[in-house]
Amino acid sequence: MNVEPDSLRFSRRYPEEGGDPVPIERYTSEEYFAREKDRVFRRKWLNIGNRLDAPNPGDYFVVELPVANTSLLVIHGKDGEYRAFHNMCSHRGAPLAWDEKGSCRGYMACRFHGWVYDTKGNLVQVSDSENFPSVEKAENGLTPVNCDVWREFIFVNLAEEPEQSLHDFLGPVVDEIAAYDFSGFTPAFHYRIDENVNWKTLQEAQLEGWHLPYLHEKTLARAVKLEGKQFRHSAIELHGPHGVLGSPPPDAFEPSPAALLASQFGTGTMQAFAKQRDPTEGYDFRGSFDFWHIFPNFFVGLLDGLYFTFNIWPVSVDRSIWEIKGYYPPIKNAGELFAREYSKVGLRDPMMEDCYTHELISKMLKSGAKSVLHLQDEEMMVRHLSNGVDRCVQGIE
Ligand code: FES
Ligand SMILES: [Fe+2]
Repeated sequence: MNVEPDSLRFSRRYPEEGGDPVPIERYTSEEYFAREKDRVFRRKWLNIGNRLDAPNPGDYFVVELPVANTSLLVIHGKDGEYRAFHNMCSHRGAPLAWDEKGSCRGYMACRFHGWVYDTKGNLVQVSDSENFPSVEKAENGLTPVNCDVWREFIFVNLAEEPEQSLHDFLGPVVDEIAAYDFSGFTPAFHYRIDENVNWKTLQEAQLEGWHLPYLHEKTLARAVKLEGKQFRHSAIELHGPHGVLGSPPPDAFEPSPAALLASQFGTGTMQAFAKQRDPTEGYDFRGSFDFWHIFPNFFVGLLDGLYFTFNIWPVSVDRSIWEIKGYYPPIKNAGELFAREYSKVGLRDPMMEDCYTHELISKMLKSGAKSVLHLQDEEMMVRHLSNGVDRCVQGIE
């Protein structure tokens, strides 16, 4: 590691985050969870997709949001705008889109009785309309949800009137990431994991790299020769409720023979992770790999030549969905496909180690054996999330 030991460096930089243990009740209480749904998920901007989920006008996708008891339909309008709606027909409540993704030529018809909507959500045709004398088409379009786009990322806000614009909500993050070039990537893989764990426990394991040489000793840590060492972030920066974790380039990189073979055909995650950056080039990397956390539940991992995203969706107080999506340059030949697939399964193994651990933690948090959790300096982002959520729950933010 190139980072000098400097104990409590982040705690000294961010004294307002405090140093108290975190109450376990925040992970197990139904009442706390109910307040999170209201005070966080119904008020804050939430990422629900990428432009590439609906790249062309007429394309659409559906996102299940159990945290808000709804399912949203995002349509790339014929006019080029992205719009979000509750995925619910105005006649008798059937979903308008039944599949996760699709494309229409400008109109979508409900499968139940055929009412038709355009890509702006307007109701344009009522089947058997003479038998609906009091239904006004103009008043019975799809129910819209506030929707805005930042860079590649599509966000919604479930409040009737958002307290902030998406731009203001993202604050300094907009400028900090402005120089990263998201163009030229295609969706490369998608994992969806349904876990019996609170949504904060799930994402907290992604908010610190300190567990790498422990939990991932035989996977990630072995490849970068971290076994038996203490992992130190090259940077932790808090930007409003959001923040970034920088991971330093490793001192050594010893890929397995299969990983080495894959690396001869194309860039994999581990190779990108191990790469030294030129600090003068475009986006100012804090490390070889920058992991941005956008409050409350979205991550964008920036590497050189690829990026990936996490969305962590609460289902209940102790169940969550983890969506993992990777975006790579388009594949040009079979060798590159092999490298990409290898990179995909290379990520899967440490993810499985995380998932298994999450569920074990979740079980024990409910045991009542302890009332608090302890955090150290390298876990500053875990504290930041916990504090940020708690301020919302307490009504301070
Ligand atoms: S529920 Fe859609 S047309 Fe009847
Ligand atoms: Fe992990």
